[in-house]
Amino acid sequence: MRLLLFGAPASGKGTQADRLSERLGVPQVATGNILRAQVALRTELGVRAAALMERGDLVPDELMIEIIRVRLRQPDCTEGFLLDGFPRTVAQAEALDRLAQAMAIRIDRVLYLKVPDDELVRRISGRLTCAICNRSYFFDPGRPHPEACEEDGGLLLVREDDRPETARRRISVYVENTLPILVHYRDQSLVTEIDGLASVDEVTDRILSSLRSPHPAS
Ligand code: AP5
Repeated sequence: MRLLLFGAPASGKGTQADRLSERLGVPQVATGNILRAQVALRTELGVRAAALMERGDLVPDELMIEIIRVRLRQPDCTEGFLLDGFPRTVAQAEALDRLAQAMAIRIDRVLYLKVPDDELVRRISGRLTCAICNRSYFFDPGRPHPEACEEDGGLLLVREDDRPETARRRISVYVENTLPILVHYRDQSLVTEIDGLASVDEVTDRILSSLRSPHPAS
């Protein structure tokens, strides 16, 4: 199954991708995680991406398209994948169409996680991310919380781009550049809207039950 998880910053894409990847047996391809790994390694791409990410801006299309072109051709993606964070511009969506055609595959569904803005801000302000595996946690700001990831003991840190000013910028970049992609996929009748304002388990159930239904509600 080839799925695309779509939604605003902090709408829960990574959280759900993590679970769905396990349930559906397909790899999560998260461009944000790929970029953060490059930043940590201080590669040429990482150095270029870091400044843009810290401002909440997008990394140029040509770099992202090349990353995806290489990643989707890796053997673990042969039977399917779960795209998280790509495409983010109409140009990226069109490039993905061309890539899919060249690979003789098709995207089965675009899962649009819909979450109100005030909840996005709340989730961003309480998010801590594992420095090793990128897993996200939510803790009420100001309350005591564990310091290490329950999976691998990695330190839980505030992501650079979760600081309030950058987070606001990311949401406005999403509205301006990313939301218009929905029209592209609605034209292809691929979009299923998922109400993301519910517990993590409930959202997973909603996604899985939508995947069991043959006709996506656009
Ligand atoms: P990226 O890492 O993709 O960030 P994002 O899209 O802003 O998404 P987030 O990771 O912030 O949120 P999420 O939706 O995964 O939510 P999460 O599950 O963590 O991209 C970062 C940057 O990289 C971009 O700004 C850009 O610069 C660059 N980039 C990446 N891809 C690019 C591309 N294709 N083109 C150009 N540039 C690109 O959940 C959030 C919080 O809420 C967590 O604390 C979680 O525990 C909690 N939570 C999750 N679900 C629930 C729930 N149901 N109820 C309550 N809390 C919940």
